[in-house]
Amino acid sequence: MFIKSHWLKLILALMIVGGVTLAFGCSKKEKATPTPTKVAATSTPAAGTPTPSGGDATRGKTVFAANCTVCHPDGKQGVGPSLIGVTTKLTTQQITTQIRNGKNVMPAFSTTQISDAQLADLLAYLATLK
Ligand code: HEC
Repeated sequence: MFIKSHWLKLILALMIVGGVTLAFGCSKKEKATPTPTKVAATSTPAAGTPTPSGGDATRGKTVFAANCTVCHPDGKQGVGPSLIGVTTKLTTQQITTQIRNGKNVMPAFSTTQISDAQLADLLAYLATLK
C-alpha cells in the first residue's frame, strides 16, 4: 500500500515537472524572436562611400522606402503631402525636426528607428526629389 501511493506521488510529480518544463519551453520560444531593430541602425554607416556629414542619397532612398514611402509614395502625395522640392521649401533643421518629433498624423522617428547617419542619408535623398 505504502509503495503504491509512493509511486503514484512520483508519477504525479513527474507529470507536474513535465508540464512546467513544457510551459517554460514555450515561453522561451516566444521571447526569442523580436529584437533585430538596432542592428540595421548601427550597421549602415559601413556600406557605401565615406561621406561623414554629407549623406548618401542612394542609401537614403532605402531608408525612405522602409519608413516614409507608405505615406509619401516615392516622395509624392499620399497620406502625407508631396515631398518633391521639400528641401527648397524647408530648412534641413525643419525637416529634421519634422522627422524626429513628428507632426499630427506623421509619427516621430527616434534614433533607434533612423540613426543620425541614416537621417543624413535621408536628407540627401530628399534633396534629389525634384
Ligand atoms: C503615417 C504617415 C507618414 C509617415 C510614415 C511619414 N510621414 Fe511625413 N508627413 C505625413 C503627414 C500627414 C504630414 C503633414 C503633417 C502636417 O503638417 O499636419 C507629413 C509631413 C512631412 C514633411 C513636411 C512637408 C511639408 O511640406 O511641410 C516632411 C519633410 C515629411 N513628412 C517627411 C517624412 C519623412 C522623411 C518620413 C520618413 C522618415 C515621413 N515623412 C514619414 C505623414 C507621414
